[in-house]
Order: sequence, then structure tokens, then C-alpha cells
Amino acid sequence: MSHETIEYENLGKLNKQFFNEYREEFSKVLEGGRYILGNCVKKFEQEFAQYCGTQYCVGVANGLDALMLALKTWNFNEGDEVIVPSNTYIATILAIINNNMKPILVEPDLATYNIDPSKIEEKITPRTKAIMPVHLYGKLCDMESINSIAKKHNLMVVEDCAQAHGASYKGTRAGNFGDFGAFSFYPTKNLGALGDAWALTCNDETFKTQISILRNYGSEVKYYNEVVGYNSRLDEFLAAYLSVKLKYLEAINEHKRSLSSVYLMWLKDDFIKPAIHPDYYDVYHIFNIRHPKRNELREYLLKNNVKTEIHYPVAPNKQKAMKWILDTQPSPIAEEIHQTTLSLPISYFHTKDDIAQVIETMNKF
Ligand SMILES: Cc1ncc(COP(=O)(O)O)c(C=O)c1O
Repeated sequence: MSHETIEYENLGKLNKQFFNEYREEFSKVLEGGRYILGNCVKKFEQEFAQYCGTQYCVGVANGLDALMLALKTWNFNEGDEVIVPSNTYIATILAIINNNMKPILVEPDLATYNIDPSKIEEKITPRTKAIMPVHLYGKLCDMESINSIAKKHNLMVVEDCAQAHGASYKGTRAGNFGDFGAFSFYPTKNLGALGDAWALTCNDETFKTQISILRNYGSEVKYYNEVVGYNSRLDEFLAAYLSVKLKYLEAINEHKRSLSSVYLMWLKDDFIKPAIHPDYYDVYHIFNIRHPKRNELREYLLKNNVKTEIHYPVAPNKQKAMKWILDTQPSPIAEEIHQTTLSLPISYFHTKDDIAQVIETMNKF
């Protein structure tokens, strides 16, 4: 077995297989001469909606915008509250704060790392207006429980699907459960673009129209502005590349699942491994384990040519930028995760031999 360095991620290697098709698309868009909201954006929106099983998809420029624009469609008031998992990536929380709303942290279930539905209702107040579940690491949240709470209290649901392209529960894919599904195509994601790109999925035509207008200066017909909008359009070139990669998303997800099954089978039980359940099709955007000596383990792996990452090193309530609003919301479970979690290599370019090398090294720790 070779003992070369196992990288955590390498976007050049990951995308190499698609380079020729990307070059062809680049030439087509270049020569077509339409660089903003052209046919490639429309085509990708249709294809991605079809892939997710939703009626609509609207491409936007980046993740913060996608999450923010989704919240804007309900005309909430300043100070209204949005429930969000205490261990999410900071973007979910920033979308709430940048809408002048208040993030209310709910702790995750330590078995799944996703928001614990049994802890949501105790945080609901007359000001609660929405829930933003995050399908962390590529596993769907318990959307049946979340949606029944949302229905009972008349709350909007925005799924943060940034890590969950193609993840499903009993055959229904992410992006179908809430009023909106918000997908990141950040280059490292399972469906990664060649730059910043996002999309919102939904099953309601009014929502679709609202987002299409909001992303384009509040205008449906050029130079006629109906609402105060933004400039948050999905880039035409990026949409063309996304259509290429979408054809391989099933293969990417399946490859990552096959690597995850090697980890699940052979990693020794000293490491807390991700939970699996037959109703859930997990897509392992991230394959994490937990260990009480996480930092030592990470150092040891690095010395032995295995690169890892931490998602995420600091819990949102401990972030300097969030102190003023989250300091009064202790999140011991999130902090425990942030102190013990380690993300192992699981890219599309990794082979089972690479993973075997990681496992062999880890099992000697
Ligand atoms: C759960 C979650 N939400 C939001 C984002 C923000 O995505 P982007 O960086 O594409 O804006 C990320 C990015 O990693 C994420 O993981």
C-alpha cells in the first residue's frame, strides 16, 4: 500500500474528469454572447428542480443571499425569531441576523448532529416565525417532526440543504420538505460549481416568482421595479458548468457512500462514527467522527500523511461576532461536538485504497 499524503480535498483533482466538458460549455456561452440570466441558468434551474423532485428552482448568487431571500418572502418584522440549530455553519445564522431577525438556538441530537425536534417547542414564543433546519454533513433532519411543529405554530420552514444534494428520507430528496430548500454549490460541495453559486427550490409558484424578482433588482420586466430587490443572479457560466456536473451527482454521491461504508466497517469503535438508518440516504458531504482527543488525533494523522478538517472548530455561540446576540444562549451539546469532531477525507477523487490508508493509520492511534 502506498503511503503518499492523503489530502483532505483537492478541487483540481476532483474536477479533472469534467474539464473537457467544462471547456466546451465555456466556449458555447462565450460565443453565445449572453452572460447574465440566459438559457444556461434556465436549463440548470429546470434540471435541478427535476433532480430534487421539486416543481421550481431559482438560481441565486451565493448562500447568504439564498437563505436571506427565502426569509424575505414572508415579510417578517424586525426582532421576529427564527429557530436554528446551535451547531450550524455561521451562514444560516447570518442570514437571520442580516434580516434583522433573532436567531434562537436549538441544540442538535448528538446521534445525528441535526436539530433535535424534541427541543424545538420549548423555544417557541409569540415572536417565532420560522425554523431553519440544516441537513448537516449530508443527512436529512427529522423533517416529519419538524414540519408537524411548524404546521401547529404556523411557522415558515427553510431547509439549509448546503450539504445535502440528493440526500433523502424514505425516497424524498432534500429541498422538498420546507417552504424552500436552499442549496450551496460552493466548489467543495457534492454538487460544486467553479465559484460561488446557490439555488432555492420550492413547490409554490408565488414563492418562485418572488425569488426570481428579488434576485434581479425587484424587477420581472426589465426597467420596471416592483419591489426593493437585490442583485443576486446565478452566473451564466457557472450554471453551464453545474449542468455538466449534475449529470454525475448520482455517481459522486454513490462514490462517497461507498467510501463511507469502508470507514463504517473498518474504523475501530474508539471513534464515534456517523449513525446510519435504512430510511435515510446520506450523501456524506462530510464524513465526521468524534474523539475526546480530537486535537491530538489530528496532529498524529498529519504527521502520518493524512490531512483532515474540522467542521467546525468554534460553536456559533462562541464566535466573537455573535457574542452580542448568542452569548445568552448556552449550547453545551454543540460545544461538545465542536471540540470533538473531525472530518476525514472523502472526496470524489479518493479511492478505497486511500481510505484504507486513513483507517490503518487511525486504528493505530
Ligand atoms: C450548512 C451551510 N449553510 C450555508 C453555507 C454557506 O454556503 P456558501 O459558502 O456557499 O455561501 C454553508 C457552506 O459551507 C453550509 O455548510
